[in-house]
Amino acid sequence: MNQSFAIIGAGKVGTALGYLLVRRGYQLTAIYSRSPASAEEACQLIGQGQPSNDVVATAASAQIVFITTPDQAIGPTCDAIAARHGFQKGTLVIHCSGALPSAVLESARTCEAHIASLHPIQSLAEVNQAIKLLPGSYFGFEGDKAAAETARQLVSALEGKWLSIATQDKPLYHAAAVFACNYVVSLLDIGVRLLEAVGISRDDALPALLPLLKGTAANLERLGLPQALTGPIARGDKETVTRHIQALNQKLPQLVELYNQLGKHTIDIGLHKGSLPPAVAQELKKLFDA
Ligand SMILES: NC(=O)c1ccc[n+]([C@@H]2O[C@H](COP(=O)([O-])OP(=O)(O)OC[C@H]3O[C@@H](n4cnc5c(N)ncnc54)[C@H](OP(=O)(O)O)[C@@H]3O)[C@@H](O)[C@H]2O)c1
Repeated sequence: MNQSFAIIGAGKVGTALGYLLVRRGYQLTAIYSRSPASAEEACQLIGQGQPSNDVVATAASAQIVFITTPDQAIGPTCDAIAARHGFQKGTLVIHCSGALPSAVLESARTCEAHIASLHPIQSLAEVNQAIKLLPGSYFGFEGDKAAAETARQLVSALEGKWLSIATQDKPLYHAAAVFACNYVVSLLDIGVRLLEAVGISRDDALPALLPLLKGTAANLERLGLPQALTGPIARGDKETVTRHIQALNQKLPQLVELYNQLGKHTIDIGLHKGSLPPAVAQELKKLFDA
């Protein structure tokens, strides 16, 4: 503990990490961001660290350096610091992207620094929400073996849970997060459009579906997979599924293919749950393939 850290990129993730780590005993040295106002604001909120307008001095000031810029700026930012020998020997340089490997920080090795990616599996829309949501979240670690112990200490200080990811598995790992987060938003958007198609206002549509989403999340938490699955496919209700496909074909035919693809995947869940008889599963599959 009591290790020093610096933040480059004073956005939602950087600021929330800074706020939490300072309260767990880590020493924040400096924050650099593209706009000085963001760095100043973050230092004020955290209550420690100096806003800096020198990215190299910021990186050189600490044993752990978080580069929490948007993904596309992580590599160039690291390269610019490394080119000016800005990392101390033995520094741990971390980025928090789920999509990118630690290798985008490769240039930091020229300063004999260690590199890692440490990705919170969480959807963080604003700083205060991020401060509440990071504790208890899982963090996917990928990077140097020499970085693992310090990263584990960080995750434990954040009251997070640890997942270790092999470098080559990062794209699939991140695709999992996209399915579980971004595509859930897309599915809700489709639900809203369908309700609008039957005359329900957009203002009512999302609030009407949100309790369903929350109930489903609660079922997943309580019962897990596959037990949390409910609905016509879990029950083997072929007639209802047929009516859905007919109605979609009439009103929103562009959604039929997606409905069928998701339906086929849902058959597997129903079979695992044991509520869908295999013979009915075959008939449903024929419906979706047609
Ligand atoms: N948000 C999420 O849900 C989430 C979840 C998991 C992981 N992540 C990862 O966390 C990282 C940060 O995401 P975020 O959501 O915190 O992004 P963000 O809120 O957009 O913050 C990024 C910050 O970096 C600053 N910045 C931009 N370019 C810069 C540069 N070249 N040099 C220095 N600072 C620069 C920004 O500009 P200003 O200085 O102008 O303010 C901003 O304050 C990303 O790698 C992202 O993939 C995000």
